[in-house]
Amino acid sequence: MVIEGDGIGREVIPAAIKVVEELGLGLEFEPLDVNAERFLRTGEALPEGAFRQLEKADAILLGAIGDPRICDPRYTAQTLGRIRRELDLYANVRPARLLDPRLSPLRDAGPRPADMIVIRENTEGLYSSLGGRFKAGTPDEMALQEHVSTYRGVRRILDYAFSVARSCVVMADKWNAMPHAGALWHRCWREARAAHPDVPARHMAIDACALHMITDPWQFDVIVTENCFGDILSDIAGGLAGGVGFAPSANINGTTGQAMFEPVHGSAPDIAGTGTANPVAAILSCALMLAHLGFAAEAAAVEAAAAGAVRAGECTADAGGSLSTGEAAAAVARWLR
Ligand code: IPM
Ligand code: MG
Repeated sequence: MVIEGDGIGREVIPAAIKVVEELGLGLEFEPLDVNAERFLRTGEALPEGAFRQLEKADAILLGAIGDPRICDPRYTAQTLGRIRRELDLYANVRPARLLDPRLSPLRDAGPRPADMIVIRENTEGLYSSLGGRFKAGTPDEMALQEHVSTYRGVRRILDYAFSVARSCVVMADKWNAMPHAGALWHRCWREARAAHPDVPARHMAIDACALHMITDPWQFDVIVTENCFGDILSDIAGGLAGGVGFAPSANINGTTGQAMFEPVHGSAPDIAGTGTANPVAAILSCALMLAHLGFAAEAAAVEAAAAGAVRAGECTADAGGSLSTGEAAAAVARWLR
């Protein structure tokens, strides 16, 4: 099922689908009308019937959710948040692989392109929505926004990180300032390390981890962390790989196999409608989807084609080219042939 969503999501997703269609796999892309227009019209962005369809989908491809006309957090919570939480897509996998060295802000600084995966816990943490406001609007206002970590939730995300690691796992947290959650994460960390004794593993404080990602990104393979920390670190990782225009993501339930794929960038209202959005993050998200559906060779081919096009300068302006969204995707499709 496909949710183009809002803003540039409506441009990059159709462009990316054309690239996948080039493979001739006969996949069906069924559109679902979930977007700001619908929310503004009906107050309900994702009706029950539509959600039931998503539950049954082999995979969900999503563009972006967000519209400057909507300041109501319920819009995101009812859509992106609900899909992630209610389908229990607990692993948010955000690879940052540099397709072309010239795109990295650290291009002259290191021995090789940085290539890391941020694994973000995707169902709890600071995104639990638990909390409330007290005496709102008065000088005595108080707000509580609860961080929730569960044994089951932490164990499974750490296990997931170990299962995809190629050389090492770094767990990033803030145990010294968040001692309760920290104690639980470290209990799970000890267990996960014992369960995966062959994978080198290190712990890092989240602030030090953010610094190291900038000063020495080459040390990282998999970084696993809490939901909100992972939201932030994955933007840093995307920046290292040339910007969020190159950052794909997969939201996966490792048990049911249900999954949603989406570019890390948002709806980018400032450039929406101009035809200048970089389609590569959406194309790479399709590659993650293909791999998840069992088309590993095709996924690798799409990634290689995207790298080929970008290295040849056949890309959008943010990546140093002069092509439109559609032209840049067509270039990737050509490299795929
Ligand atoms: C992301 C986005 C979302 C998040 C927003 C749109 C709620 O930033 O997917 O990284 O914070 O999860
Ligand atoms: Mg984000």
